[in-house]
Amino acid sequence: MSNYIYINDVGPRDGLQNQATILDPQARIELINRLIDSGIPGIEICSFVNPKAVPAMSGADQIVKAFEGNQTCDFSVLVPNMKGYELAKDAGAKTVTVVPSATETMNQKNINMSLEETLDSAKEILKTATADNLNTRAYISVAWECPYEGKVDSARILSIADQLLDAGATELILADTIGATNPKDVSVLFRQITQNVDPSILSAHFHDTRALGLANVVAALNEGISKFDACIGGLGGCPFAPGAAGNLATEDLCSMLHQMGYQTNVDLIKLLDAVEYISKQLKKDIGGRMTPWFRKSLYPA
Ligand code: COA
Ligand code: ZN
Repeated sequence: MSNYIYINDVGPRDGLQNQATILDPQARIELINRLIDSGIPGIEICSFVNPKAVPAMSGADQIVKAFEGNQTCDFSVLVPNMKGYELAKDAGAKTVTVVPSATETMNQKNINMSLEETLDSAKEILKTATADNLNTRAYISVAWECPYEGKVDSARILSIADQLLDAGATELILADTIGATNPKDVSVLFRQITQNVDPSILSAHFHDTRALGLANVVAALNEGISKFDACIGGLGGCPFAPGAAGNLATEDLCSMLHQMGYQTNVDLIKLLDAVEYISKQLKKDIGGRMTPWFRKSLYPA
């Protein structure tokens, strides 16, 4: 279906990893169930990281086990290193996502490895996961701009992309981790990468820090990209990337796509239910830019 856009909600991972309120696995499982009910085809459900570094992600194994055998959705988990991979595999994860960043400093701050060590580790995980018959995804974080080193040269992204694909990544996600890029630079990078990489295995992950998330999506759509990460309620941000605000809200993304005639399989009313649920759990009013309007149109005063 040519007008179908695949959405992967990263709320249970990117959305919750940096919140002041830490949710227990049961509450995170409930959020995931609501996202499943909304029809979202992909969900990043947790990360296997050091719980001392990111307490909000503790209990990842319980979350994976809760969805064992559930085939309604593609469930993926983030793994920063081989230890995380082994834990994820033991818990029963079917899809693992590695998370190399494009710069030296970002890798040091995020996962305590040099760029070279990070790439070697990511490639080893991808090869092992492929041999273990697991599905693989690979982020390239700070693909446009790094909070520590500034703008990132696109030649570096193309080289990292080649290495990750050679190692067995079946999907590559270019991530604007701090929400610093713009539609022009999004077009430039996707136009370059799609010279050699099939757009159907590429995905984009935008943060909405400077209110350019949707504009960046349109730029990526124009380059043939049909998979996007987004985050329920516009939550999100990496604890180790200063300046990162929330991800592009899933409800804003789906609302725009539906208005443009694309199909996503996502039911916006049920998505709003997930927004209300997570707002209550986090004890704060969250939601995308369209949420107040959407609430009013559903429940006029
Ligand atoms: N999951 C759980 N525990 C892990 C782990 C993983 N993937 N990797 C390492 N550990 C544990 C080790 O067992 C060790 O535990 P101990 O103190 O009880 O002995 C401790 O972490 C330190 O191990 P080490 O190998 O020295 O790791 P590190 O200190 O270099 O930390 C990371 C590496 C990646 C685990 C850590 O930096 C981390 O979890 N970062 C979070 C990254 C993140 O979530 N970023 C946001 C998303 S991109
Ligand atoms: Zn992110």
